[in-house]
Amino acid sequence: MDLAELLEISEKERRKKKPLEIHCCVAASCVSSNSQSIKDKLTEILRNQNLADKVDVIGVGCLGLCSKGPLLRNSQSGEFYCNVSLDNVEEILKDLKGEKCRIEKISPDDPFYKKQMHIVLENSGKIDPESIESYIANGGYITLYQVLHEMTPQEVIEEITKSGLRGRGGAGYPTGLKWSLVAKSVAEKKFVVCNADEGDPGAFMDRSVLESDPHKIIEGMTIAAYAVGAQQGYIYIRGEYPLAISRLQTAIRQAKKYGLLGSQIFEANFDFKIDLRIGAGAFVCGEETALMQSIEGKRGTPYPRPPYPAEYGLWGYPTLINNVETFANVVPIIRNGSEWFSKIGTENSKGTKVFALAGKIARTGLIEVPMGTTLREIVEEIGGGVPNKGKIKAIQTGGPSGGCIPASKLDTPVDYESLIELGSMMGSGGMIVMDENTNMVEVAKFFMEFSKDESCGKCIPCRAGTYEIHNILSKILNGEATQYDFEKLKLLCKMVKETSLCGLGQSAPNPVLSTIMNFEDEYLSLLKEDI
Ligand SMILES: Cc1cc2nc3c(=O)[nH]c(=O)nc-3n(C[C@H](O)[C@H](O)[C@H](O)COP(=O)(O)O)c2cc1C
Ligand code: SF4
Ligand code: FES
Repeated sequence: MDLAELLEISEKERRKKKPLEIHCCVAASCVSSNSQSIKDKLTEILRNQNLADKVDVIGVGCLGLCSKGPLLRNSQSGEFYCNVSLDNVEEILKDLKGEKCRIEKISPDDPFYKKQMHIVLENSGKIDPESIESYIANGGYITLYQVLHEMTPQEVIEEITKSGLRGRGGAGYPTGLKWSLVAKSVAEKKFVVCNADEGDPGAFMDRSVLESDPHKIIEGMTIAAYAVGAQQGYIYIRGEYPLAISRLQTAIRQAKKYGLLGSQIFEANFDFKIDLRIGAGAFVCGEETALMQSIEGKRGTPYPRPPYPAEYGLWGYPTLINNVETFANVVPIIRNGSEWFSKIGTENSKGTKVFALAGKIARTGLIEVPMGTTLREIVEEIGGGVPNKGKIKAIQTGGPSGGCIPASKLDTPVDYESLIELGSMMGSGGMIVMDENTNMVEVAKFFMEFSKDESCGKCIPCRAGTYEIHNILSKILNGEATQYDFEKLKLLCKMVKETSLCGLGQSAPNPVLSTIMNFEDEYLSLLKEDI
């Protein structure tokens, strides 16, 4: 493959485009509500009406407003058709003919869409995730060509560093710094790993990105491999994501066929391969050292760092590990320049963040907003607030490692530091809205149950501590705990945080500590008198 061939594929694909396209979401949530059959039926209706040469029905990735799925979009008006079913799909045809349509429609100017900014999701809902040609026609793989022919590895790393991108897997480690550490490590082999384990309850950002735009991750990983000097990549993805796995398998096969993975990519002196590794769904395998153990075929348990994977990773070789969303930012940053990216967001948190918006909220789904957007804008304007005029009580971010932010802090701009100050954390992007009927002690117990079950058991503070914290929370909820138990709970949380081996144990007490910090009265009201 050379540049002329790439441009020819792009041109050919663009020439095939019909004047009007109906984009039908074929990401997991809509597929589970039958969107694939809806797509087939609409295609058949258009064919029967001799409209097939004017209108095309294209399967695309997530269109964002998953709670209104199956969701389809009219490419000309930009309007979305909501809750489409096999019974009402003909109504879309009426709309195309200018007749009255009985399907709920949402304008692209609706606050759900208007307030967002798509960088990671720039192709989601626009291209066919199963077609490399569709990705190429949207500018795909041109950036990789430019990187391989016009930039040195050092220049690529400098761009990523200057952009201010921080890892989206949870901790927010500066990506450019991580890349430069791997690049500096001298070894005969190096690896690049994409962490697609995504085990937090309520989180589905990475799954959605992979189902909607898998080539963007392949292109981002390949650019990273060139920058750090790696020859082999792995995408570690959980087995519970069959659609994302199959789309990745298709994408890797297509990229290999066009010579975009393999030897001498774009006729440059650079070889890179990507293989999938399917995890069995243990939350701890998202932790980078456990993940590497799992890739090596061992039991997925963490081990102490240093040495960090950048120096001593897979099979002892330097390894770059980044999250799906981190890799998804690479192509836009190189294409548009670090200066463009660094102007988006806040002083210390650049770019955008994808959130899986869920819970007691009118509109749930996948959103992407600039860092610095306030929680209020996200949950009230984009999410439409609590249905039936209910009140927001708290927002949970960061999953089992995060915490619950009270409604009084809704005007906080979302970035890495501000969420930590509120006793929570950005995490990978799960955001669960809770209404006034939520019992915050129960919420803490729910997350502690998760951490207790997912603890790998390797170190005692986490193995025994999460179990004991869970016991005390049950005792409090049953009205059997005293002030003594409550004090013990706080001490235990501190001990587990400070002495656990890996991030799972170190952050497991956060949902308890943050609910104590913001909703202590609820705990106190459940305590019985000391005897
Ligand atoms: C218990 C636990 C689970 C984790 N799960 C994930 C995960 O599913 N995806 C992810 O990218 N990072 C996860 N991480 C963070 C990774 O260890 C690592 O920091 C991250 O993949 C680095 O990528 P980034 O620099 O792009 O954020 C987890 C960490 C812990 C402690
Ligand atoms: S902190 Fe928990 S999950 Fe991590 S190594 Fe220890 S027991 Fe395993
Ligand atoms: S999965 Fe269809 S809109 Fe999100």
